[in-house]
Amino acid sequence: MSPAALSQPAPAARAIHTLVGEHARDLSAKLQQHRLALFPPTAAKTLRRFTSGEAAGLIGVDPGYLRRLSLEGRGPQPEVGPSGRRSYSIEDIQALRAYLDESGKAERRYLPHRREGDHLQVICVVNFKGGSGKTTTAAHLAQYLALRGYRTLAVDLDPQASLSALHGYQPEFDVGENETLYAALRYDDARRPLSEVIRRTYFPGLDIVPANIELMEYEHETPKALGSGTGDLFFTRLDGALAEVEANYDVVVVDCPPQLGFLTMSALCAATAVLVTVHPQMLDVMSMCQFLLMTSDLLGVVAEAGGNMSYDWMRYLVTRYEPGDGPQNQMVSFMRSMFGEHVLNYPMVKSTAVADAGITKQTLYEVSRDAFTRSTYDRALEALNNVNGEIEALIARGWGRG
Ligand SMILES: Nc1ncnc2c1ncn2[C@@H]1O[C@H](COP(=O)(O)OP(=O)(O)O)[C@@H](O)[C@H]1O
Ligand SMILES: [Mg+2]
Repeated sequence: MSPAALSQPAPAARAIHTLVGEHARDLSAKLQQHRLALFPPTAAKTLRRFTSGEAAGLIGVDPGYLRRLSLEGRGPQPEVGPSGRRSYSIEDIQALRAYLDESGKAERRYLPHRREGDHLQVICVVNFKGGSGKTTTAAHLAQYLALRGYRTLAVDLDPQASLSALHGYQPEFDVGENETLYAALRYDDARRPLSEVIRRTYFPGLDIVPANIELMEYEHETPKALGSGTGDLFFTRLDGALAEVEANYDVVVVDCPPQLGFLTMSALCAATAVLVTVHPQMLDVMSMCQFLLMTSDLLGVVAEAGGNMSYDWMRYLVTRYEPGDGPQNQMVSFMRSMFGEHVLNYPMVKSTAVADAGITKQTLYEVSRDAFTRSTYDRALEALNNVNGEIEALIARGWGRG
């Protein structure tokens, strides 16, 4: 700054809260405009159709077999385009699973629903480092499970509501007061059953509990409730809320906020499985170390107070991995040597396809392959399906299958 500039009287400074408030309102209005331009309110988001080959892959049958069913007119039929290409909606695919189960021999089941005695699986995606890929992982896992035929509930536990936004719910416009998970966890009379805050998504088989900033109340109210001894303790509250809807779902995927507060603690207490996302870089791994230490201490206290701390599985998932990066490879090797089988075999690679899809609030499962360089899309999808397939196998094992 020049001396002349220094001697100028400062422009009338506005109070920081006025300035920030203005920025927030302007930004919110612009974001809303941007969204309306992308998705006009009349054009509700719908899921694309799937090719015959994709459908066969999702069901787990040979593409030739699906073609034969279609040619012979057996079971749910595809739509046939002008060029003779067959395509299926996700509802058709689910109906095909049911058809195969009814008509086939009992040795293999295509509908993966829970059976008598199988517990609801609650998978928490955690780490207190922002940007470690929690939301991306949770969204793609939940959508994958829905595509594979599991009745899936995604829970957005992050007040920043990125998972909700990815599913078309902009927090400050579409999610009103008492319409987040906080409604089902709160300690006062305004508490609502979880079923009242669950919303459908445009993914058949995937429902969501959206988030907004209101979830922060839980961090403030829980210490007060602990102090006054009112209500159930925080570590049974999410369990209690889920119990009410458990018959409707096979798997719950929880996207946790980037802090180890009462929201995350409540999620960890309700979890049957824990997925820790980690970007393989020194600072991220050091931060994760702090997270693990704190988690261990806090959960130890909960366990002493009678909380149930048993899990089916716990895994580290390497995210935004760049195979050509030497230091990242060293970090992955280091983690594998430390944690062994607790690191998933497949990492999620860094891909412009994932990042670009995110710009239009979409996942790789929603975007059409035509919108990308094919090799980029294919590589990303393969990595994603490998990761999710590995998690699906853990889910099966949790139910004593496979
Ligand atoms: N595999 C990936 N390839 C490229 N970008 C990714 C990938 N995973 C996540 N990202 C991007 O990194 C950023 C942070 O990811 P996010 O899932 O929001 O992390 P978190 O929820 O832990 O804060 C987002 O902009 C996201 O689009
Ligand atoms: Mg997030």
